[in-house]
Amino acid sequence: MSNSWLGLENDVCVITGAVGGMGLEISREFAKQKVNLALIDLDETKCQQLADDLAKEYGIKAIGFACNTTSEESVDAAVAKVKKTFGRCDILVNTAAILRFCPLEDLPLSEWNTTINVNMTGYFLMSQRFGRLMIEQKSGRMVHISTVASHSPETYSGAYSSTKAAISMLSKQIAAEWGQFGIRSNAVCPCFVKTPLSRKFYEDKAVEEGRTRMIASRRIGETIDIANAVLYLASRRSDYSNGTELVVDGGYEVMLGDLVPRPGGRRQFALDQHAASQAKK
Ligand SMILES: NC(=O)c1ccc[n+]([C@@H]2O[C@H](COP(=O)([O-])OP(=O)(O)OC[C@H]3O[C@@H](n4cnc5c(N)ncnc54)[C@H](O)[C@@H]3O)[C@@H](O)[C@H]2O)c1
Repeated sequence: MSNSWLGLENDVCVITGAVGGMGLEISREFAKQKVNLALIDLDETKCQQLADDLAKEYGIKAIGFACNTTSEESVDAAVAKVKKTFGRCDILVNTAAILRFCPLEDLPLSEWNTTINVNMTGYFLMSQRFGRLMIEQKSGRMVHISTVASHSPETYSGAYSSTKAAISMLSKQIAAEWGQFGIRSNAVCPCFVKTPLSRKFYEDKAVEEGRTRMIASRRIGETIDIANAVLYLASRRSDYSNGTELVVDGGYEVMLGDLVPRPGGRRQFALDQHAASQAKK
């Protein structure tokens, strides 16, 4: 093991959705740790550019190319390219997903299927094809970006929450089936994070303030918060975590009780009640 805390140097990591909001940050943080990278997204030029930039800035080996994670041919070609370039794959980070808004009663079947295809089938195909390589190697680590919406539904977002709940289960199934081959599979569940996927939510300041109040830590997540969790789960520091979910939400999931109104506000209500009970003593 290397001297650095994470011990990721010289590992080979494949990242899907690499030029998206979270993917970019995750890619950069791996590059800082001297991890060699295969950066995958739909736009070939952007992927290549990112790979070139990171290779130059951090002295790593990086390739970037277009790969549609829903296509068997495209994913198999990606595996071949990674094998040819690096000879192995130590880490897979599944990030590529889509979010399409629509109330359930109006959701066209085509939209439902498209979301399932990208968010579920894409994660499965990437995991299966790179998983076969990891089984041969008898080692590998997978980190799947899920969401807190896999635990409680994000309403009017079509198939999004259902697909993400399925990803969390797929991650656990991979751990259960492939743990014996030295493979670990874990999921990260972010909540509110500012990225191109969510940018439109923050154009309205009232919406941003309302969201901030729902977070125990009273701030919207940054992409670095998620990248830190991904690096930890990809590293040897989490060697005994397999089939887990790491919720990275600033305490969003613990806030439900705090959001239930009480007269005068919850904190003030508690202070008043306490003062009244003390006065009686
Ligand atoms: N942004 C948030 O607030 C938030 C919260 C919770 C979870 N997430 C999850 O984080 C992940 C990243 O989200 P983001 O905010 O960075 O989104 P984003 O839209 O910025 O990035 C997603 C990337 O995936 C790529 N992609 C889409 N379909 C693809 C396909 N078939 N093949 C290859 N690449 C494809 C897109 O081109 C894009 O670059 C997603 O899994 C999302 O569900 C985001």
